[in-house]
Amino acid sequence: MMVDAPKINQGLEGIYFTESGICKVDGINGRLYYYGYSIETLAENSNFEEVCYLLLNGKLPKKSELSAFRKNLASERELPEEVIMMIKRASKKANAMDILRSAVSMLSFFDEDSGDNSEAANMRKSVRLISQIASVTAATGRAKAGKAYVEPDPKMNHVENFLYMLNGAKPEPDHVKILDTMFLLHAEHSSNASTFSGIVTASTLSDMHSAITSAIGTLKGPLHGGADEAALHMMNAIGKPENTVHYIVDALAGKKRIMGFGHRVYKTYDPRARIIKGRLEEMQNSADKEVRNLTNIALQAEKLMINKLGKSHGIWPNVDFFSGPVYTDLGIEDYLFTPIFAASRIPGWAAHIMEYLKGNRLIRPLEYYDGAIGKKYVPIKER
Ligand SMILES: CC(C)(COP(=O)(O)OP(=O)(O)OC[C@H]1O[C@@H](n2cnc3c(N)ncnc32)[C@H](O)[C@@H]1OP(=O)(O)O)[C@@H](O)C(=O)NCCC(=O)NCCS
Repeated sequence: MMVDAPKINQGLEGIYFTESGICKVDGINGRLYYYGYSIETLAENSNFEEVCYLLLNGKLPKKSELSAFRKNLASERELPEEVIMMIKRASKKANAMDILRSAVSMLSFFDEDSGDNSEAANMRKSVRLISQIASVTAATGRAKAGKAYVEPDPKMNHVENFLYMLNGAKPEPDHVKILDTMFLLHAEHSSNASTFSGIVTASTLSDMHSAITSAIGTLKGPLHGGADEAALHMMNAIGKPENTVHYIVDALAGKKRIMGFGHRVYKTYDPRARIIKGRLEEMQNSADKEVRNLTNIALQAEKLMINKLGKSHGIWPNVDFFSGPVYTDLGIEDYLFTPIFAASRIPGWAAHIMEYLKGNRLIRPLEYYDGAIGKKYVPIKER
């Protein structure tokens, strides 16, 4: 008896797989909330460390709780010597996301809670990984530039320390503020591909390091976190603002994707991109020619894509489109963009993994088999 083919949601589009109280993405109205707080409110009033606490604990901290959390983060920044060595050895040839994925996997060997899958141990590992992923990213930047590893400074806040470990000098307060906002905007985004892959791994009752390693591998792809670096490469290929129209028209005519545009959930302006665009508007007249060029290319491309370019609908920028010019303005190399995304998204990954484990059910969807059955096996010499 033939069974009718089920309705298939390719790419799990439109499928709810669980309930969650962490994040609301309103793709129709272009709104984003972490535990009910709008991203605009958080970007205006909060900071990355406080948002990490919010995501891991479901509530904003009191003063004493935030101060204890900051101390905890600062105490977990050191990397084992073996991990630093691996980063140095791999740095010449390896992709920075591959280094990060391997480093997180390796960090599990040295984690005192490795093997303990309890809620309390997972919380400790989450805090540790927030600190360590930033340290690995900074150490990778140093190693790729052929510079010595910089020890963390426990007196600095998370983002300030990241820039210090990356550049070897105390960062300017306005650089810390801008990067802190970038971290905060990237901290969480519901069941995006990397968070989902982390949850899938955790749902087998594997462990936190394995789940975060899966998430990092998933984030790397250019359809997800890798879009920030790909978007900057496109801006560099465009070269000058006056080439933008020609480049975009040609690319769309050739059915190419413009990286940093479009989104599975937002069918309007990504609210995170809107906040970052505010920074680009300030950078338009930068004294640095490269930054000025990139900014003007980005702002022109945005206008062209939104204004439809002859298509039936405009395509909106997502969070990844404007990140490249901002990071370039901060002196950050393009290969670190996606690792910085991971360093920002780790609290969101960890929060979802811990939330899902509370009511865990193995994730195992179905695929509809549309091949043949009952084929006759032909011995190899007769094929
Ligand atoms: C993110 C992404 C994979 C979401 O894709 P999706 O939900 O599967 O959307 P679709 O591929 O169905 O695209 C819908 C329409 O928009 C167009 N579109 C979407 N993103 C586009 C892009 N970046 N460049 C050009 N056209 C794009 C598609 O061609 C399609 O057009 P059509 O309706 O005329 O056929 C997609 O927008 C993309 O590839 N973006 C570039 C990578 C990126 O920036 N990723 C980061 C996401 S945060």
